[in-house]
Amino acid sequence: MCGIVGYIGYEQAAPFLLKGLEKLEYRGYDSSGICLNDGSELVVKKAKGKLEELKKLTDNGRALSGTVGIGHTRWATHGEPSDVNAHPHLSESGRFAVVHNGIIENYLQLKEYLISKGVTFRSMTDTEVIAQLIEFYYKGDLIDTVIKVLSRLDGSYALGVISVDDPDRIIAVRKESPLIIGIGQGENYIASDVPAILAKTKRIYRLENNEIAILRRDSIKIINTDREEVKKQEETISWTIDAAEKGGYEHFMFKEIMEQPKVIHDTISPRIRNGRVVLDEISLTPEQLRSFRKINILACGSAYHVGVVAKYIFEKLLRIPVEADLASEFRYRDPIVDDKTLTIVISQSGETADTKEAMKEAQRRGSHVISIVNVVGSAIATESDDVIYTWAGPEIAVATTKAYSAQLAVIYLMAIFFGDLLGTIDEKQYGYYVSELLTIPDKISQILENSTQVQYLASKLFNSKDIFFIGRNIDYALSLEGSLKLKEISYIHSEAYAAGELKHGTISLIENGTLVIALATHEPLIAKTVSNIREVQTRGANVLCLACDDHKELADVAQSTVFIPKICDMMLPSLAVVPLQLFAYYVASAKGCDIDKPRNLAKSVTVE
Ligand code: G6P
Repeated sequence: MCGIVGYIGYEQAAPFLLKGLEKLEYRGYDSSGICLNDGSELVVKKAKGKLEELKKLTDNGRALSGTVGIGHTRWATHGEPSDVNAHPHLSESGRFAVVHNGIIENYLQLKEYLISKGVTFRSMTDTEVIAQLIEFYYKGDLIDTVIKVLSRLDGSYALGVISVDDPDRIIAVRKESPLIIGIGQGENYIASDVPAILAKTKRIYRLENNEIAILRRDSIKIINTDREEVKKQEETISWTIDAAEKGGYEHFMFKEIMEQPKVIHDTISPRIRNGRVVLDEISLTPEQLRSFRKINILACGSAYHVGVVAKYIFEKLLRIPVEADLASEFRYRDPIVDDKTLTIVISQSGETADTKEAMKEAQRRGSHVISIVNVVGSAIATESDDVIYTWAGPEIAVATTKAYSAQLAVIYLMAIFFGDLLGTIDEKQYGYYVSELLTIPDKISQILENSTQVQYLASKLFNSKDIFFIGRNIDYALSLEGSLKLKEISYIHSEAYAAGELKHGTISLIENGTLVIALATHEPLIAKTVSNIREVQTRGANVLCLACDDHKELADVAQSTVFIPKICDMMLPSLAVVPLQLFAYYVASAKGCDIDKPRNLAKSVTVE
């Protein structure tokens, strides 16, 4: 979703702003723009489409002078992607410029009010009202004015504001949308996310809701809306710049697929001590944990798919009813949740608006929330009751791979931990699960070493028009992710079906040559899935089957078969997902798609 970057220092700002925006491209965008204070006026350059357009327009920023500036990548919500709707937005006289991430819910009332006072608008955006309101209320003190404007806004926002009358300051504000402040030497920065400023500094402040940062070249002051100073804890980013670079790979997605053995190791190993799962992060007493009657999992996209896998695992191991819910549906259906419900929220970014609001709804109803989050200090991480971090490092490709895998690893840790506590698994099972868990990184490495078979299959099958993923039980849960991965980056229509459900409708879509990807790893139901494979083959389907090494006979069933190493049943998705990720990647690559930045998608969805 939209990306913000800002610079105040002694160097030419525009080249830095463009480089920063490049690092935020992963968030998803359809236009971009920058605004510089050149000493006498605010100069704005904007362009629809890729950042390349803006770079061409400004000679990579070299054509624009000024040592103070703000930049933005826009993911259109209000108004089509266009030059005029791109940010930064200027006030009518051009004295104030604003970049914004989020949505101003009452912008229409504010716009009508300002129009009735004679203000002329240029764009269709909600953001322009902020720039216009600043000018409308301005009486000489920019901070007072910004505070007054904030009191008029409903919705979510991260803002960067500059003024031609105030050439030595950037004002930054945050409410519900992420914004960090980078601390430099003789220069300071604002950004939606760390990669944008990592080349300059690792020292940051994370703004919290309703905090206002006033950046000068040599100082940063953070205040609240009563103008009282807020003392912030400085944070040092631990990851290196390499972590946010492609490191020799053609795409971030491929690099992140290859990183999975490491991130799973990093996520599980600190939490297994002397053979025991230790989840110090959970603040509840064993009695409280035993009192839950239901588990509620809330998430969106791939994180939701982890929730669906978790439902199968938790119900089997813990014998507690589990509901995996799409966060966007949960909050509006008057959910039955109380203090006897444990809520688990899953989010890579920790900023997904639907997930965050669903979490708050669960908390309002008395539920204790444990979040599984990748981004340290993000909103969901800080606002949940307990947080278990996935140690996946920065994930840049829009299509998640390593974060999904790290989230699954946390689910296994939780299943073992709770199973022990509730007495639903015995010591023998406990030891077995822990030892199996520790084998995941090596087994994934084996799959990655043999990726050429998947590459070959992708090169044969990339012209498919429709692809159906089928599976039963945990294989079905995984097929949801396999299908999403493929369609989001290759634009091939695909659907995931519970294999037994296919004959109740969708089988009518199977024609001669339709590709069906059958997941048959879940031992107890392999024979049933084989029957479903036969059903579709009879109707002409070309079946690619994913199976475990100890079921080589499946090679005689399907037209092609990919084998993965054997592991205990509940951990199969961690291995089986890897060939599916690779298949999606190689198909998209064969089709020449923009793999890391698929059209219309955003990495961090901070609007509802
Ligand atoms: C977006 C991304 C998905 C992601 C989902 C949830 O739609 O494109 O890849 O799974 O948001 O994101 P989160 O950061 O909450 O895991």
